[in-house]
Order: sequence, then structure tokens, then C-alpha cells
Amino acid sequence: MDNFDLDTPIIELASAYGSSNWTVRNAVEGVQIFGGIGSGKSSGSGRFLALKYLSNGFGGLVLTVKPDEKIVWQEYCRLAGREADLLIIEPNGEHCFNFLQYESTHSKDSLTENIVEVLKTVIQAGNEKDSGKSDDPFWETALDMLIFNVIDLCRLAYGTLSIQTMYDIVQTIPKNKENLQTETSDGEVKAFQKAFEKARSMVTKKIDTWVASFTPEQEQTILKDNFRFESELLDAIPEARLLKFLDQFFFDSFINLSEKTRSIIDFTFSGFLFRLLREPVYSLFCRYDSTLTPEDCLDGKIILINLPVKYYHKVGRDCQILFKYIWQRAMEKRSIDTNSRPLFLWSDEAQNFLHAHDADYQATARSSRIATVYISQNLPNYYASMGGQKAEFKVKSFLGTLGTKIFHANADITTNGYSSELIGDAFFEDASSSVTVSKDFSQTKGKSLKLERLIRPEDFVRLKTGGHLNGYRVEGYIHKQGDPISHLGQNFTKITFNQNFSI
Ligand SMILES: Nc1ncnc2c1ncn2[C@@H]1O[C@H](COP(=O)(O)OP(=O)(O)OP(=O)(O)O)[C@@H](O)[C@H]1O
Ligand SMILES: [Mg+2]
Repeated sequence: MDNFDLDTPIIELASAYGSSNWTVRNAVEGVQIFGGIGSGKSSGSGRFLALKYLSNGFGGLVLTVKPDEKIVWQEYCRLAGREADLLIIEPNGEHCFNFLQYESTHSKDSLTENIVEVLKTVIQAGNEKDSGKSDDPFWETALDMLIFNVIDLCRLAYGTLSIQTMYDIVQTIPKNKENLQTETSDGEVKAFQKAFEKARSMVTKKIDTWVASFTPEQEQTILKDNFRFESELLDAIPEARLLKFLDQFFFDSFINLSEKTRSIIDFTFSGFLFRLLREPVYSLFCRYDSTLTPEDCLDGKIILINLPVKYYHKVGRDCQILFKYIWQRAMEKRSIDTNSRPLFLWSDEAQNFLHAHDADYQATARSSRIATVYISQNLPNYYASMGGQKAEFKVKSFLGTLGTKIFHANADITTNGYSSELIGDAFFEDASSSVTVSKDFSQTKGKSLKLERLIRPEDFVRLKTGGHLNGYRVEGYIHKQGDPISHLGQNFTKITFNQNFSI
């Protein structure tokens, strides 16, 4: 048994009335940091939490948006004496992660389902949210089915999966019934046909072997009855059943989709595969054997993916969401009875990496001891990236799964309104309406109480944002869901972080 104690203090919340601790227990309930540009999120609260988590032995995953984040984390790890634990996935670097290989060795019977889920999540997260496509169940189902069937076809024909083969197959699926020619203009057999023929001949061989094993009675009964033959065949040979489904999908359903729908779905999937086939991503995630796995974090490793979105754009984002989702699923399966090391999931500019399962995942992150830290400027960033219908509802319910929020200086009205509302109201004495004039003209002050915001939205505009002029102080309000911060009897307090903080 290891000795990671949930009551280990991370932040000491001190005031004139006493002090209490914000602990590892609170950390694994998740943290959301909001603040305007340059408000001190990264260099104030972010730096502080990162150094504290590292010095307490957390393992974790760091996603990157800005190109300097690798250097910043190298510095954090150096300060916390964790340099040896930092594993960086980057172009021309030491590490790579072959996700198909990982899924193949980690999922037993449900490989196709798992890979479909991973690819679908990444593709949907990368979709233009305002197009409404991601909310259209038909579109989603059709894309799902295409991914599903391409993977099954690839596995049935070749017994293994590769991004290149999947891409080639998607590119050559027949477009309509008249256009079923099997060769490209160069006279080569199309990848789709090749895979289908291979699958068919493999299944035919199995059928031959099966038929050859019939007893004379079976020959009499089964072979003479077509209906019975097929039904027994589909029971006896699962590959034959699969081939039948594939045939139905590609030649009955998919081919009949309207041209427009069909091309959107084709392009969405093949465009995604195409990005994975390009360097440097291909070498990092598809080509070589893995040098690391998400499980390494359980031994205290910190995996950083240095494909900053600001530099690598969509493909940087796709790859990081892909790794994040695989990592989250692996961590959900961990047993904290044998290894209770807390891990962090760190994402500055987190709106870039949100995906459809984040809210569900976050709901169980506490029990798998994952200390999520999401940093973002404001709520509209999240609305835009979670998007679709009911964006506001989705984002707010997602934020509800992160137990602690830190609000730095912000000029965004929506975020300030949210912060102020979250912190809540209290009764204040209302001096303006408390003057009563009695008959004898003497003035008495009556006590009138008025419900007011504890922290008004505009108060967030004035918080200190660090730098030389502020003595490197970054101010914020910390709000903790659930039990009040003990010595204060309320759920929030003002807090100051030092940008020069060091362990
Ligand atoms: N180590 C440091 N020492 C002094 N000042 C710093 C340091 N790091 C950043 N600053 C300054 O402090 C302020 C806050 O910077 P920081 O990068 O933490 O903001 P941020 O909230 O993360 O902003 P963004 O949304 O742009 O990422 C900025 O004015 C920045 O120039
Ligand atoms: Mg920042």
C-alpha cells in the first residue's frame, strides 16, 4: 500500500479568523480557473497548483496550446525535483504512442467498439460547433456506422488495423450502384474491393472447411435447405455473419445516401485519417511501437504532449484530444486499492480540448483520483467549443462537476455574472431606504435588510494581475463546492498567489 493521503494540504487558506486547508481531496474534485487575458491564470494559480501537485508526487498528463508550455513544465519539474519523470511526446523526440496498437492490446472483445468510440469522440470534438452537425443524430449515426464498418472490414480482411488501409478503403468505397467498377484509372484494384475480396475469400475458405466437416445426415438436411444452410452458417461462422453485415451496409445503405450527406460523411472521416497520416503526427501516433502508455502516469510519470495548438492547429488538437480520451478511459479503469497516487489532467486554454464525454468522465474522476485542472479565459470560450444546442446548459452542468473554481481578474460580463452568482447573496443593511420620518419629526434609522451579491460582477474587474507593479501578486476568489471553507463558514474567500512562488 502506498501512502498518498487525501488530507495532505495543498493550499492554506488563511485569514484574520483562522486558517484551513484545501487538500488533495479537494484537488481530485477538479479545479476550474477563469480569468481574462494576462490576469495571472498561468503564472499565478496555475503555477502554484502545478508545483504543489508535482512536489506531492502526482503523475499526470499535460496538454499544450502555447509553444512555451513545454519549457514552463520543464522548469516546474526541475523546481519540484521531478525532471526524470517528465516524458515528452514531440516531433523528433524520444517518445511516441501507437494508439491502434495500444487499443489492440488493451481491449479484448470490444476492439472495434473502442476504436470507433475514440475516433468518433475526436472527430466530433473537432467539428465546427455552430454547424449544428454534431447535434444531428442522423449524421452522427451515419458517421458512426461508416467508422464501424470500415474498421470491421479492415480487420476481417487483414486481421490488423492501420490508418493507411482505413484511409485507402474510405477513399474507394463505391459512390453509386452504376459505379461499381473495381479498378482505379491506373488499372489498380481499388483498396475497398481488394479488402472486400480478401474478406470474402477468407470467409469462403471457412465455409468450405465447415461444409467438409458435415456428417452424411447433415449433408442431406442442411445442404438441401438454403434457408437452413444460411442460418446455420451464420451461427457457425461469425466472420460470415460480419461479412453479411458489411455487404448490407456498403452496398445497400451507404450507397443509397444522398450525395451531399455521403460526401460530408466521407470527407469528415477521410479528412481526419488524412491528418493522422501526415508527419509529424504519423510517426508520433501511428508508425512506431509505443515507448510510453497512459498507465506510466500511475508510476508517477508526467506525460506532456508538445504539439501546441497555436502552432499545429487542428492536428495538434486532434492528437491531444485523442490521447486525452484514451488516457481518461485508462485512468477510469485503475484500481486505487493497489495504487492511490493522485494524477492530474492539466489543460491550460482548456476549451481547445473539451469533448463529448468530458462531463461523464469528470463525474467519476474523483473516485479515480484524477485532479483535473482546466484553465480558460471565460465561459463564452466554453460555449463556443461545447457548442451545438443547449450550449449554456451543457457548459454549466460540466462546470458543476469541477469542485473548485478560481476567478481572477476578468472583464467578461458573462463570466463575472456567473462567478458572482455562484458565490451568492447575503443580507446587507440597506442604509438608503432606512430613514423614516415620524410625526414628531425625529429621524430614526430602521433596520432594513437587502439581499445583495457578496461579490458584485464588477468586483472581478479590479483584481490584481501580477507583474512588477503589483509586486508579482495575482488576486482571485476561490470558491469550493460542498462543505464551507471551515474557518470562514462560507464557500469562498479571496486569495493571493505569488508569481515567484517556488517549492
Ligand atoms: N514570472 C513572471 N513574473 C512577472 N510577471 C509575469 C510572469 N509571468 C507572467 N507575468 C505577467 O503577469 C501577467 C499575468 O500573466 P499570465 O501569463 O499568468 O496570464 P494568463 O491569465 O495566463 O493570460 P493568458 O490568458 O493570456 O494565458 C501578465 O501581465 C504577464 O506579462
Ligand atoms: Mg495563460
